[in-house]
Amino acid sequence: MKILLIGAHGTLGQAVQANLAARHSIVSVGRNSGDYRADLAQPASLAALLDKVGKVDAIVSAAGNVHFGPLAEMTAEQFNIGLQDKLLGQVQLALLAQRYLNDGGSVTLTSGILSTDPIRYGASASAVNGAIEAFVAAAALELPRGLRINAVSPTVLTESMAAYGAYFAGFEPVSAERAALAYQRSVEGAQTGRVYQVQ
Ligand SMILES: NC(=O)c1ccc[n+]([C@@H]2O[C@H](COP(=O)([O-])OP(=O)(O)OC[C@H]3O[C@@H](n4cnc5c(N)ncnc54)[C@H](OP(=O)(O)O)[C@@H]3O)[C@@H](O)[C@H]2O)c1
Repeated sequence: MKILLIGAHGTLGQAVQANLAARHSIVSVGRNSGDYRADLAQPASLAALLDKVGKVDAIVSAAGNVHFGPLAEMTAEQFNIGLQDKLLGQVQLALLAQRYLNDGGSVTLTSGILSTDPIRYGASASAVNGAIEAFVAAAALELPRGLRINAVSPTVLTESMAAYGAYFAGFEPVSAERAALAYQRSVEGAQTGRVYQVQ
């Protein structure tokens, strides 16, 4: 398969790439890294990306930014970061996928454990992750031509514990390699409308 992978050079994305590249051709994308440049927060850049790359068999997003911070200090502008980037950016990928995926192709988006298991400072992340999961369940009902869509919802990654561990007290981390299996399952399997929780 030809697979477009957004965020291929990230902590999670590198493991997803390592898994999928063993059997497929990967087109990697980042804002400042990869074969092509695009920004989830700039919908026009995603449309331009797909125009350049053309038809693919799978679109996988292992990217997306949200604001973390205390609710007492959170501004609407900060909350909007996650809406425009991780949420709308990934929704835009799914909307474009209807035109750029080959028949039977798939979209795999990334949410995260905070949709169901909130932590302090994570109100924006919880809201965005929950919206991604609800979107995937509904979009799966309407996608044409055998197209599929799923989300992967990892818990905190072992590789990210040094950076985020203090916020995830008592959470058991998983390796990025293990999380990558859920992306493989979404791309190579037959299910749609699923949220694969990796915990
Ligand atoms: N790490 C964890 O523990 C964990 C757990 C659960 C869920 N997640 C979710 O998994 C996703 C990836 O997390 P990560 O820790 O792997 O992040 P990361 O290490 O910061 O990597 C992010 C990757 O995505 C690219 N990227 C970042 N923002 C982008 C944007 N707006 N448009 C296009 N590409 C962008 C980056 O490349 P450039 O810098 O070149 O753009 C980089 O390759 C996020 O949605 C995160 O919420 C992470």
